[in-house]
Amino acid sequence: MKKTTIKQLLSTPELIGTEVEARGWVRTRRGNKHVQFVQLNDGSSINNLQVVLDMSRFTDEQLKPVTTGSSIHVTGKLVESQGKGQTCEIQAESFGIYGTADPETYPLQKKGHTLEFLREIAHLRPRTNTFGAVLRVRSALAFAIHKFFQEKGFFYLNTPLITASDCEGAGAMFQVTTLDLNNLPKDEEGKVDYSKDFFAKPTALTVSGQLEGELGATALGQIYTFGPTFRAENSNTPRHLSEFWMIEPEMAFYDITDNMDLAEEFVKYCINYALENCMDDIRFLEQMYDKGLVERLRFVVDNDFVRLTYGEGVKILEASGKKFEFPVHWGTDLQSEHERYLVEEHFKKPVILTDYPKEIKAFYMKQNEDGKTVRAMDVLFPHIGEIIGGSEREESYDKLLARIEELNIPMKDMWWYLDTRRFGTVPHSGFGLGFERLVLFVTGMTNIRDVIPFPRTPGKAEF
Ligand code: 4AD
Ligand code: MG
Repeated sequence: MKKTTIKQLLSTPELIGTEVEARGWVRTRRGNKHVQFVQLNDGSSINNLQVVLDMSRFTDEQLKPVTTGSSIHVTGKLVESQGKGQTCEIQAESFGIYGTADPETYPLQKKGHTLEFLREIAHLRPRTNTFGAVLRVRSALAFAIHKFFQEKGFFYLNTPLITASDCEGAGAMFQVTTLDLNNLPKDEEGKVDYSKDFFAKPTALTVSGQLEGELGATALGQIYTFGPTFRAENSNTPRHLSEFWMIEPEMAFYDITDNMDLAEEFVKYCINYALENCMDDIRFLEQMYDKGLVERLRFVVDNDFVRLTYGEGVKILEASGKKFEFPVHWGTDLQSEHERYLVEEHFKKPVILTDYPKEIKAFYMKQNEDGKTVRAMDVLFPHIGEIIGGSEREESYDKLLARIEELNIPMKDMWWYLDTRRFGTVPHSGFGLGFERLVLFVTGMTNIRDVIPFPRTPGKAEF
C-alpha cells in the first residue's frame, strides 16, 4: 500500500477533499466532549497534522490510549483547516492504536526539557521538535555534500576505518585488538606480542582517511571521503567528539590557492543548500535558540572569506590588547578563543589562515622556502572556530622522507604512502571538514553533542 507522509499531506493541495491515511506519534491531545484535536507527527517535517475527532463518532474509552507519545493510524477526509498556522487537517473517520505510551513514565511530556536532560534520553530525543529539525538538516547537508562533489566529477572513495598509521601524528587513537586483555601474549622482552593479534600488528581506529585519500587522488584525480573518524583526545569541549564524521576531498594538481577556493565554494554551497531546502526547520531553530541564525547563514554565503597568514593573524591578536586565557605569540597553536576573536571581533567574516609554523602541523604538509612554515590552511567560522583544516601536500620524496625521519615516524607504517612520491608524484592538496561542526553552524546549536544522534565523548558511550 502506498504510504503518504504528513509532509506530503500538508503540501499537496490535490489531496484536499480526498480520503487519506496518516500515521505517526501523538504530540498532544486536547479538546472537549464534542470535539478532540490530536497533533500528529511522523518525523517527515517539523509541522504536525491536526487530527479532528468528532466525539459523536467516538467514545472517551476509545480515545483514552491516545496520549502523548503513543503511535496511531487515522483515516479520514483531508480538509482545509479553519485554525491558523496549519494548511489542512484530517477529519477522522476511523483510527487505530499501534502502541501506547504510559503518561506516568513517558519522559517527553509537553515541552521545555533542557538540552542537557535530552542528552540523557538520547534514545527518545529524535522525537522532539528540536532533534527532528537538527537531524533533518543533518541529512540534507549530507546529501548536499555528495551532490556538490559528484557534480564536480569527484569520486567517492571509501577509506579504511581500521589502520596501522597515525595520519595526524597526535597519538590520539583508539586501539583495536582481539587479544585477551587479561592474558596478553608476551615476547622475550616482556612486551605485548602483537604478532598474535588479529592483524598481526598493532592497529587502531582511523583519525583521518587522508593518507589513503592521497592514494586515490594520485590515481583518480579528484576524490572525496565521507565517513566516521575517531579521536581519543580527552577534550571535553562543546566542539569535540570522540567519534565524528569527516569529509576529506583530495585533489591532484591543486595548489593551496585552488584548495582554498574549493573549500570556500564547498561550504557556501552546503549552507545555501540548507537555506533552500530546510527553511521550516531552520526557522524553528532560529526562533527557539538563535535569533540571528538565518542572517548569519546568509552573511557567510554572500561574503568573501578573508585570507591571511598565521603570522599576520598572530600580529593582530598580539596588538588586540585583549586578555586571552591562553597567551599567544608566533609559534603557539591557536585556541578557539583566538580563532573566534579574529572572526567575530576583528574581521567579522569567516577567515582562512595559511602558512602555520611546521611544528604545530602534521608531517605531510608542503614546506615553504622559509624553512619555518608549511602550506596549511584552516578555515575559521563565527561561533565555531576551526571548521576546516587542510593543506597543500609535500610532493617531494626527499623532503617528505626527511620530515618523517625528523619526527621519528616509523617507516614500516609509511612505505606505501611514500610510494606516491616515488612513482609519478604530482602537486596535490586536500582538506577535512568536520561534519558536525558544519551541522552546528547551520542549526545554530551550541553543543556538538546535540547535532549527532548518538554522541560519543569521554566517559559516554550509552545508546
Ligand atoms: O584539522 P584536522 O585534524 O585535519 C585532518 O584530519 C586532516 N587529515 C584533514 C585533511 O587535510 N584531509 O581535522 C579536520 C576537521 C577539523 O577542522 C574539525 O572541523 C574536525 O575535522 N574535527 C573534529 N570534529 C569534531 N570532533 C573532533 N574531535 C574533531 N577533530 C577535528
Ligand atoms: Mg586542524
